[in-house]
Amino acid sequence: MTQAKDEIKIGGLGASRKRVEDNRFIRGKGRYVDDIVLPGMLHMEILRSPLAHARIVSIDTSKAWAIPGVRLVLTGEMMATRNLAWMPTLSYDTQAVLATDKVRFQGQEVACVVADDPYIAKDACEAIVVEYEALPVIVNPTQAVAQGAPLIRDDKDNQHDNVIYNWEVGDKEATDRAFAQADRVSKLELHYPRSHPSPIECCGSIADFDRSTSKLTVYMTSQAPHVIRAAVALVSELPEHMIRIISPDLGGGFGNKVPIYPGYVMSILASILLERPVKWIEDKTGNLISTGFARDVYLKGELALRNDGKILGVRMHTDADHGAFFSDAQPSKFKIGLMHSAFSCYDIPAAHLTAQGVYTNKAPGGVAYRCSFRVTEAMYFQERMVQAAADDLGMDQAEFRRRNFVRDDDFPHRTPFGFLTDSGQYGKCLDVGLEAIGYADFLREKEEAKKRGRLLGIGISTMTEPLGAGNSREYDILGMKMFDSAQLRVHMTGKAILRTGAKTQGQGHETTWAQIVAHELGMPAEDILVEEGDTDNTPFGLGTYASRSTPVAGAAVAMVSRKIRAKARKIAAHLLEVSEEDIEWELGRFYIRSSPERGVSIQECAMAAYSNMPDGMEPGLENVAYYDPPNLTWPFACYIATVEVDPVTGVWDVLRVVAVDDCGVRINPMVVEGQIMGGLTEAYAMASMQFITFDAQGNCVGSNYMDYLLPTAWETPGYELHEVVTPCPHHPIGAKGIGECATVGGPAAFVNAVMDALKGTGVRNIDMPLLPDRVYEALTKRHDVSGAPPVKTDD
Ligand code: CDP
Repeated sequence: MTQAKDEIKIGGLGASRKRVEDNRFIRGKGRYVDDIVLPGMLHMEILRSPLAHARIVSIDTSKAWAIPGVRLVLTGEMMATRNLAWMPTLSYDTQAVLATDKVRFQGQEVACVVADDPYIAKDACEAIVVEYEALPVIVNPTQAVAQGAPLIRDDKDNQHDNVIYNWEVGDKEATDRAFAQADRVSKLELHYPRSHPSPIECCGSIADFDRSTSKLTVYMTSQAPHVIRAAVALVSELPEHMIRIISPDLGGGFGNKVPIYPGYVMSILASILLERPVKWIEDKTGNLISTGFARDVYLKGELALRNDGKILGVRMHTDADHGAFFSDAQPSKFKIGLMHSAFSCYDIPAAHLTAQGVYTNKAPGGVAYRCSFRVTEAMYFQERMVQAAADDLGMDQAEFRRRNFVRDDDFPHRTPFGFLTDSGQYGKCLDVGLEAIGYADFLREKEEAKKRGRLLGIGISTMTEPLGAGNSREYDILGMKMFDSAQLRVHMTGKAILRTGAKTQGQGHETTWAQIVAHELGMPAEDILVEEGDTDNTPFGLGTYASRSTPVAGAAVAMVSRKIRAKARKIAAHLLEVSEEDIEWELGRFYIRSSPERGVSIQECAMAAYSNMPDGMEPGLENVAYYDPPNLTWPFACYIATVEVDPVTGVWDVLRVVAVDDCGVRINPMVVEGQIMGGLTEAYAMASMQFITFDAQGNCVGSNYMDYLLPTAWETPGYELHEVVTPCPHHPIGAKGIGECATVGGPAAFVNAVMDALKGTGVRNIDMPLLPDRVYEALTKRHDVSGAPPVKTDD
């Protein structure tokens, strides 16, 4: 039997092993924060601001205190006496835990109540009387930088306007020269609207401070429990070893569960004050209105073009609306996430990006919703600009991309903004996609349909994106270097337990990490239990977001397995009574090179590690690996959508979607396909229906599932999936990340398709979501349609 077949048998690399975690999930046996009940537990509810910008004149909590069952009412003033009214954010800013001076966005936390049950706590919140003095409201970057704009962050000593940062990257002079040499310049202005990761499970925590042991245990919805433990230690001055963060099963995260929210902090303080466990479970409106939004970036982009289709240079300016606090997690060196990963798959000599970030009276935003920092925006802008440029040149959009792709023999390649990409077959991916969709036939069909008044369109989105931060030289969060870890203990009977610093939220780590160990050690995957999310029992890691788990923690799993194998080899030599140099390895077995029939299994080595180890060898078979990747991984994807737009109503339907993903070696093809389908569904949702915005008073429009739509199986199109495999040259098993690729690359495919259907109308852009009324407006009035707030809510 070949090694590949043996591997599939034991559930190793390439096996479409069913997800082991689904055994409990489909039986309703998952254990989420809200399922946990501790003896003597109290319940916390939060009072939120109805106004987006207002001075707090007074807060009267007397009626709330008088309600039977109320144990604690906290206000900002009380938090301030403990120096906890403000907390640091993951981007070196500060964020109010409870408002003291003024509220800065609708939904901001103003007070909280702890009571015997959540209903009493909610009633008591309603009994708190807050007097506000309304202030002028800012809901977009233009208003934020306008002369005379009200100062949102007057709490900060050196903040005299609403600008958070100005940042630039690239070579301005070289880019100016490229534009001077261009035959023509293609321009596009866009807004990538706010969206919300909207996990089905909202945020929540149970803080349990035990005075007798001085230990604080917090069950919480966190994608990065170790980062939270370090942050709590730094803010609370509790010793780090006396803090235990447990992230149990998570009902999705998508970036929403990376930041530290005031609710977590207040439940911790309440538990310390009351010496009882305190549970806080956010409701859906609370989640949509106040926790980490994503995107909300404006772009002005220009491409310098030669008439033959060569891109000579790119200029981008982005304005990012971060809301009232700059609180998204991002590497400290890159102010606007990794926006400058744009155009990495194209061979462009010169590029320059300027970026400004501003405060507005909106909930803190900019979290990486299923993406690496700002990569989703970067790829959307890139692919929308590429299509507009192809149209401007009158060139076929596929051919235009092919002409500008980095070629297969050009790696390693320095991208226009300075990243180093190391592998890819971009042209091949595109070709597989075009073949699958039947490109030439569709173009003919489209022309025929046009003659009969039907509007068909085809949209392509091709992109490579950086997944897997670190390396630690360049990537850190709050100074914490971005690496990850795995700890593997093989028991004497050959069964094993693996623990990592990552935290699955539905991605299937319990299944796929075991497959990596199976590949490295030849043990059946079912013999390996995977655990994550408990800081007392897992090695330090930066957590799961930005599809970094496979590139970093997954690599650590391979490396720790290799350490185990190295020790097992010594044991095998001892058992076989030969020197280590005479030992060979095949999947799951060591044998003597000169007599291959004489060998020992990895399980026999495990038994000997506890019962018959060589003299002088430390007993046991256990190790830990911390993995600091040499580079990011660069998966590539080609997404193609075809649509039909109804010219009478503006309604558009998806006809077909083809996805070609190259994420290197696939650990579990079925899990990978699930990731791609989920990502495409989120992409389709953002492109077509998800609408969460603000009116002129800063009221959040779309803060419930009546307005902010999640696509069901009914609306979701079918997907045709294909693959290309270019192993990552530096990852121990050749894998690249995949979790977010389709969310990142997908939106442009849908929007490009609709814009292609509208080609010739003079419309260059409709902002997402492409709601039928926006498409209708573009079709009938023949102008671009902006989705930027404020939106009208009074008619
Ligand atoms: O960090 P996150 O888990 O969200 O993303 P990921 O590292 O891209 O992995 C998502 C899921 O796909 C995990 O279960 C991975 O093990 C799996 N995967 C895979 O089977 N093969 C790959 N080449 C990449 C990911």
